[in-house]
Amino acid sequence: MKRLLILAAIAALASTAAFAADVEAGGKVFKAQCTACHAIVEHKKLIGPSLYGVVGRKAGTEDYPYSEANKNSGLVWDEATLDKYLTSPKTVVPGTKMTYAGLKNDEQRANLIAYLATVK
Ligand code: HEC
Repeated sequence: MKRLLILAAIAALASTAAFAADVEAGGKVFKAQCTACHAIVEHKKLIGPSLYGVVGRKAGTEDYPYSEANKNSGLVWDEATLDKYLTSPKTVVPGTKMTYAGLKNDEQRANLIAYLATVK
């Protein structure tokens, strides 16, 4: 009984958090929006660089022919930077060759970034 109460309390807390990031849902977003151009296999480049271990990585450091804009951006792909970048890549990295318009849905973006953080 006590355990049930604790579980109920945890569930209530989780549902009040703005977006309790959902890694599984984020994986689906990745599949739908990113796999056309990105692999999450270490160092495997497709149209874009591998996103394996991307969270916390310095921009432009994979084995990949980056644009000057991406390579010289000086960015580190932490959660906050990724959040801005994935909302509108061309705003954060003007001149990027990533032809992706951006993911405007806040919840989907949060889930996607939570998913990316698990891929390492
Ligand atoms: C149409 C192809 C395409 C799609 C779709 C796409 N990307 Fe990209 N992405 C690229 C290319 C090309 C680059 C390299 C950009 C450059 O060098 O200017 C890139 C670069 C990146 C980088 C910078 C990586 C680094 O090593 O500096 C991140 C992060 C990224 N993409 C994340 C994503 C995510 C997450 C998605 C899905 C929401 C996505 N991209 C969708 C093509 C794409």
